[in-house]
Amino acid sequence: MQNNSPPLRVSIIGFGAVGQGVATLLQDLPHVEVVAVADSRGVALTPNLGTLLSRKRAGRPIANSDLTALEVIRTIEHDIVVEVTPTNIENGEPGLTHMREAIKNRRSIVTSNKGPLVVAFHELVQLARENDVALRYEATVGGAMPIINLVRETLAGNRILDIMGVLNGTCNYILTRMAEEALDYDQVLSEAQDMGIAEADPTYDVMGIDTASKVVILANSFFDKNVTYADVAVTGIDRITPDALRLAHQRGFAIKLIGEVQELTVSPKMIPIGHPLNVGGTLNAASILTDHAGEITVAGKGAGSIETASAIVSDILSIQKERC
Ligand SMILES: NC(=O)c1ccc[n+]([C@@H]2O[C@H](COP(=O)([O-])OP(=O)(O)OC[C@H]3O[C@@H](n4cnc5c(N)ncnc54)[C@H](OP(=O)(O)O)[C@@H]3O)[C@@H](O)[C@H]2O)c1
Repeated sequence: MQNNSPPLRVSIIGFGAVGQGVATLLQDLPHVEVVAVADSRGVALTPNLGTLLSRKRAGRPIANSDLTALEVIRTIEHDIVVEVTPTNIENGEPGLTHMREAIKNRRSIVTSNKGPLVVAFHELVQLARENDVALRYEATVGGAMPIINLVRETLAGNRILDIMGVLNGTCNYILTRMAEEALDYDQVLSEAQDMGIAEADPTYDVMGIDTASKVVILANSFFDKNVTYADVAVTGIDRITPDALRLAHQRGFAIKLIGEVQELTVSPKMIPIGHPLNVGGTLNAASILTDHAGEITVAGKGAGSIETASAIVSDILSIQKERC
């Protein structure tokens, strides 16, 4: 079937792991035109994506204009802003300003950035509705693991009673290794840091803050709540010992960091070893409890450049379909 509509014009704001993954995938996508790419140092207009990716990977500047990211969002004609700057759950910036301005200028948003959605979920949803644009954020929860669109679209005939999940790959990796090898928390954390699975400052992941952000997004999306990070009771994994994991295992349980959306809690919980939420390594998993379909569990990669970018591209394609 021939597509006679004009190409979908996209900007990529943020050119780190996810932004580069998006650029890589968009290179092969017909009918999508990247009008600008921004990182913290500047903006490349009408970029050749292959050349830009090589420049960025070589540590060279990408800018070929004097515009800022905000000026691109305000003044360059395009349809979708892919907002993939760093997550900041204190004030949502710089992503929150990018998103507000994009929507006010009648551009749709596709994002993996949790910050703005944790800080101002309902404001952004309302603003998008008023301006008749899309706000899609599949990649914010579970990276490549489908959950937002799965619940919203595929499970639309159901009432969602609860969602609980293993929503942070770093924590899951640490707990899995500790259980399998009877190793201390500090030892596995340092190994995870060496492998690039944990950040140099792992606080955001291991203290449950990242998982709580995802709980907030799911609660606001599907449970008619208006909550922020402060409403979630959070306990991290830093006090878990190999002994606790061993004792749990002897009784037929694994210990996982679980986000519970109805309860608004994040804490280490005992999960029966045979339960589908008991996934290993860096995997994420979520169980969705519904009134008609029963319990549905999904699992998948919660992070990774191309993996996360695939969820973003899926949101871009959905917007493209809605336009046709
Ligand atoms: N990585 C994953 O697997 C993953 C998975 C799910 C969700 N996420 C979320 O997706 C977002 C992006 O993640 P990432 O891993 O790609 O982060 P990242 O590697 O740190 O990249 C962030 C990018 O944003 C740019 N940036 C920072 N401030 C900016 C500003 N004011 N204007 C324009 N660009 C700005 C940075 O510029 P410089 O390059 O100049 O530093 C960098 O290119 C984050 O919110 C993260 O939480 C990531």
